[in-house]
Amino acid sequence: MELWIAPTPAAAVDRVARIVAAQVSANPTAVLALPTGRTPVAVYGLLARWQREGRVDLRRVRSFNLDELVGLVPGDPRAYAAYMTHHWLRPLDIPPAQAQLPAVEGDLAANCAAYDDAIHRAGGIDLALLGIGENGHLGFNEPGTPWDTGTHVSELTDSTRRALVSSFGTLDAVPWRAVTMGLGTILAARHCVLLATGASKAIIVARALEAEPSTTVPASALQRHARTTVVVDAAAAATLTPRRGA
Ligand code: GLP
Repeated sequence: MELWIAPTPAAAVDRVARIVAAQVSANPTAVLALPTGRTPVAVYGLLARWQREGRVDLRRVRSFNLDELVGLVPGDPRAYAAYMTHHWLRPLDIPPAQAQLPAVEGDLAANCAAYDDAIHRAGGIDLALLGIGENGHLGFNEPGTPWDTGTHVSELTDSTRRALVSSFGTLDAVPWRAVTMGLGTILAARHCVLLATGASKAIIVARALEAEPSTTVPASALQRHARTTVVVDAAAAATLTPRRGA
């Protein structure tokens, strides 16, 4: 695992955006796995700025989102589909057909199988951009999820639901389930890039990177991945064992 400790959140964001830009410059139709949440917002914003400045062109990129919440009405502004329209499709001028999210209407098992099939037909994921939940989840792969899972329905933990209250107002309004790309699909990506910023991620970052890998901390599976880059800011790195370089 390659670890970058950036002095500030902005420097961490810049590092991750450069990795994405380099991937897309090498392969303009690259297949990305993309997260939602607060952490990647600035990465998407920086990539959009670089595209406006002519430094990168992401308009042919294909993407599969890590997850989508179940139980919202289509068009709900809190759905991750709306997030992606706002932070990814519009600013980067990407045709909607090139950006897929798990479908959460109808037969969920069939939708999950179709999502894995679509990723397979796209040639697999070149670069998976990942955030991390405070309990170590990747996408919505909650603690205990086996490492070989494909896309599946996830029952959200209390900790994950509480983290979503800021978007939904009250805990009662937060969905109970999501469809998530599985750990097996994520780990099959040719390059995984995990971005974590802020003090609230410090404890879980240290557990994910330094504890013996186990299903208790889903992100610890990345220790076994052939090519993972972890980018953290100083606050998120605060409880890591001091090391040289980075
Ligand atoms: C969410 C998403 C993850 C995301 C994580 C962290 O629930 N399912 O894909 O990486 O939690 O979110 P944030 O960046 O807002 O801390």
